[in-house]
Amino acid sequence: MSQYRYSTLAVHAGQHPDPLTGAVNVPLYLSSTFELTGVGTDRGWDYSRAGNPTRDRLETALAALEGGHSGHAFTSGMAAISGLVTMLRAGDHLICSRDVYGGTARLFNQIVCHYGIEIEYVDTANVDAVAAAIKPNTKLIHVETPSNPLMVLSDIAAISEVAHAKGIEVSVDNTFMSPMLQSPLALGADIVMHSTTKYLNGHSDGIGGALIGSTPEHKERFCLVQKAAGGIMSPFECFLVLRGIKTMPLRIKQHEENGRAVAEYLSTHPKVNLLAYPGLKSHPQHDLAVKQQKGFGSMMSCDLGSREAAARFLGAIKIFLNAESLGGVESLASHSATTTHGSVSAEERVLMGISEGRVRLSIGIEDKEDLIEDLEQALAAV
Ligand SMILES: Cc1ncc(COP(=O)(O)O)c(C=O)c1O
Repeated sequence: MSQYRYSTLAVHAGQHPDPLTGAVNVPLYLSSTFELTGVGTDRGWDYSRAGNPTRDRLETALAALEGGHSGHAFTSGMAAISGLVTMLRAGDHLICSRDVYGGTARLFNQIVCHYGIEIEYVDTANVDAVAAAIKPNTKLIHVETPSNPLMVLSDIAAISEVAHAKGIEVSVDNTFMSPMLQSPLALGADIVMHSTTKYLNGHSDGIGGALIGSTPEHKERFCLVQKAAGGIMSPFECFLVLRGIKTMPLRIKQHEENGRAVAEYLSTHPKVNLLAYPGLKSHPQHDLAVKQQKGFGSMMSCDLGSREAAARFLGAIKIFLNAESLGGVESLASHSATTTHGSVSAEERVLMGISEGRVRLSIGIEDKEDLIEDLEQALAAV
């Protein structure tokens, strides 16, 4: 399928008609187990933790969308990151972007570090800092770009070059961009991670995650993780993500258009400080965004001055919903310090640059004029 363009892939990769009935939608295979054809022989599936026909279709689609060797669907984005770090052993060193989703930091700081894995947070926007942090035992560099919520970019190609020169692999959390707007594997990374909860599902009606590997060794490892650790995506969730993927190119176009319009509006508003949106020329890494992304997406954040101002804004919005998460059709606004980064200590948040007034926006696919009017009236309450 790799000869096809993106929207064709989104509709057709992994989504061919059911060979048994011709159904144009991937059937839901709600079966935990499969009849074997003999002793040690089967029709391709034996037990759904190891593999399920509906999940296989989604995994094929994910691999095609990211240009990878294999896709692996997990029960959440966090389960996918948990699967990723099973590549590491006690004594290994992991470099992670400093401005990373709070849940990723919670997993690393409260669970993974107890397995003897050394975790170091580095400003991955600075390739020299990444190079300087590499140790003889560094095995993986995990990058989130753009980052959450400050929209800091890391140069995937440059980091991959530095890492590969030392035999280190690079994984990229591509959740904020979706496979449509950024192709980390094509830029040189080794593994892509997604919270499918966001743009891939796109309708805020499920939780899921994915890893897309680029080598047969990744496939072997992540299949083992799915079978041995068991954090697999359910067939129903796979069905929802497959359904979401079909309209993802259209949704992303609208997300993008609205994102640009809202960012332009906010960029001149006197009550909005430190607006972070890579599509604005004023973003310090706008050139890198143009180089490595295929669009600017619809995520942004800004500082409203104080926690009280953020609370007033979130209390006044009418179309935007005061809710965590992103990438769904509806616009959301959230207070970073008490939601996505609630598990990060106040001192660490200061170090990360996440102020008490920081509000993150996920721009949905509503009419942009309505969204701007809603922001206008909510900012008037600040
Ligand atoms: C960038 C990023 N990565 C990973 C996750 C975790 O995904 P999930 O909530 O599906 O476990 C999130 C969730 O918000 C996220 O924003």
